[in-house]
Amino acid sequence: MAFLKRTILVTGSSTGIGEACALSLDRSGHRVFAGVRRPEDGERLASQSSNRFRWIALDVTDEAGVREAVRTMRHALGEGRGLDGVVNNAGIAVAAPLETVSLEAFQHQFEVNVFGLLRVTQHVLPLIRLAPPGRIVNIGSIAGRVASPMLGAYCASKFAVEAMSDTLRLEVKGEGIQVSLIEPGVVFTPIWEKSMAAAESNEAQMSPEGRARYADLTSAVRRLATHPRRPGVAPEVVARAVVHALTATHPRTRYLIGRDARIRNLLRLLPDRWHDRIVQAAVARLAARAKKP
Ligand SMILES: NC(=O)c1ccc[n+]([C@@H]2O[C@H](COP(=O)([O-])OP(=O)(O)OC[C@H]3O[C@@H](n4cnc5c(N)ncnc54)[C@H](OP(=O)(O)O)[C@@H]3O)[C@@H](O)[C@H]2O)c1
Repeated sequence: MAFLKRTILVTGSSTGIGEACALSLDRSGHRVFAGVRRPEDGERLASQSSNRFRWIALDVTDEAGVREAVRTMRHALGEGRGLDGVVNNAGIAVAAPLETVSLEAFQHQFEVNVFGLLRVTQHVLPLIRLAPPGRIVNIGSIAGRVASPMLGAYCASKFAVEAMSDTLRLEVKGEGIQVSLIEPGVVFTPIWEKSMAAAESNEAQMSPEGRARYADLTSAVRRLATHPRRPGVAPEVVARAVVHALTATHPRTRYLIGRDARIRNLLRLLPDRWHDRIVQAAVARLAARAKKP
């Protein structure tokens, strides 16, 4: 199967991991449908890609839009031809303490990362069945294994993606469809800048007491998200794992990516109180560094 050219849908292709996946699949000779929310992002990607490449308008929270995107792919593929795989990548990160995060922001976190992933999967499965054996690659996170302060909404969404990936893998295995879960640690993409912008607007709505209570946590997370020398990997590293999951004869069920993800995964094995102490010490260190001019 490794040598076959596949037809793949990638959601959230405008930037970061999705962009790296779409471009690297295209460069490896595969046929890519790249889901984007803005035509200008699609045109920019198309200008760097082969003539096999096609962008499609796809907001994963929009039921009618997802139906329309599937109709467009069905038409482009031709009668009776299917999709070899989907990369469920579209995602956002809400950063706010659980006490102060708005229910609206928490719900939106799930709308994109959880219900959006489910909606796309449900709509593309019939197309994937037309081109057996299919592949479903979900972009999870180490945050789906280990929760962090300030990222309660995001971690909850990625814990849900873990459970959904495990369930789906068991449900569709009989048909030869393989489900893989990608679990990166920090990846250098715009997600953190975007999430910091949202975090600032949450902070602006907090009371002065609330702001003071969570000041250390907020500055620690901000430092971790934006510091130029923070640990992490390039999106292309994640894209390599995604291509493996889509094309290898024996894809893995899970791909844990990055040194930070592996360390956090090991720390998870500690008793909760020990783990908490390590995280709290790290937060205190980051907050102290953030205070230095
Ligand atoms: N970066 C990391 O450190 C990291 C680590 C682990 C896992 N991940 C996961 O990797 C995935 C990609 O994130 P990234 O880091 O590459 O961030 P990114 O550069 O911000 O990319 C996120 C993509 O999702 C799209 N998106 C957001 N809301 C959408 C919606 N409603 N419908 C369709 N697309 C939507 C964005 O499109 P717009 O440009 O239109 O907003 C963008 O293309 C996410 O699932 C994220 O949780 C990231």
